[in-house]
Amino acid sequence: MKTIYLNHAATSNRRPGEVIDKVCRYLQENNAVSPNRSFFHSPDMDFMVQARERVATFFHASNPDKVIFTSGATMALNMVLYGLLKPGDHVIATSVEHNAVARPLHFLEKHRGIDVTFLACEKDGSLNPQNLLPAITSKSKVLVMTHASNVLGTILPVSDCFQVARKLGLTTVLDTAQTAGFLPINMEKMNADVLIFTGHKGLLGLSGTGGFLLNEGIEEKISVTLTGGTGSRSLSLEQPGFLPDKYEAGTPNATGIISLDCGIGWLLEQGVESLQRREQELIRQFLEEAGKLPLKILGACQAENSVPLVSVLPLSIPPEMLSERLYQEFGIITRCGLHCAPLAHQTAGTLDTGAVRFSFGWNTESEEVIAAVRALYEILR
Ligand code: ALA
Repeated sequence: MKTIYLNHAATSNRRPGEVIDKVCRYLQENNAVSPNRSFFHSPDMDFMVQARERVATFFHASNPDKVIFTSGATMALNMVLYGLLKPGDHVIATSVEHNAVARPLHFLEKHRGIDVTFLACEKDGSLNPQNLLPAITSKSKVLVMTHASNVLGTILPVSDCFQVARKLGLTTVLDTAQTAGFLPINMEKMNADVLIFTGHKGLLGLSGTGGFLLNEGIEEKISVTLTGGTGSRSLSLEQPGFLPDKYEAGTPNATGIISLDCGIGWLLEQGVESLQRREQELIRQFLEEAGKLPLKILGACQAENSVPLVSVLPLSIPPEMLSERLYQEFGIITRCGLHCAPLAHQTAGTLDTGAVRFSFGWNTESEEVIAAVRALYEILR
């Protein structure tokens, strides 16, 4: 049976041919050891510079030197949140955050004396920006927000919230794990001081890639929490104070960074807007049919206000049974359970049940969406 992959919100299953070719070529041919760690200069070593430029271009950031590579969004969020917050500080997030935000904040609250407020989103994941102002206190230092919920798909009013937060002196941190590659993102227009990204979802790189981008002056606020070799200033036991070395200890994931650079290059060529229009059409197609079935659709349910995912709660069978039958009988891969986001499920009222999530991506075909809807009819009729 041919499988149908509808779990792009978790990770991209395949990569464009260009990405695969580039990675294979690098593995077969490269002579470079690691940036700054070889006694000769090979043009292959320029890949880090090129990748930083590509990431900066993609997110409309002004300075490629302020692109920091990490093993992914989780590590980036940990480094940024631990580095920004000091005992006694207050941090604000939303009630649809992924555990990549919620767990570091919980840890900081429990062990470092940091106060955390999760702004209440509506059941469909939407947030009224006016909820923010009353939550800000004189101790508030950071506002961290996911750009879109990985369970509900709903896009949050980040730009408006960040504008208010910035005016009151908070540092704004945007988590684009679910949106990069799916929506156009302009760091400056969105009033983000720090932008977090992962490489293996919409950006079409390998897993183990990601990072963060900083606005001018922000690095002064983020203490170093990870130290080690950088290939620079080796005589000193102090971590170098300049970027990117300040935050990039250890040998970088060269193969991963090359894949990310190439994935982003492919997206820039295709145009994120054009991919987005295609994916919105798939969502519309899915929602139109799924709306006739005995299931509850979670989230805002409007293709324009969401990333290409739909979570559903079947009315007649448990969600995990639906997900299992979709795979066993029809080869359709979805994700069920709590999606590493118990806060979002609590907000949606599905903490006890979880839900089945269908998520689409760059290579999802309309026929695959039709097959998924037909399978739902077969199972739930
Ligand atoms: N954040 C990923 C998901 O939503 C893992 O499935």
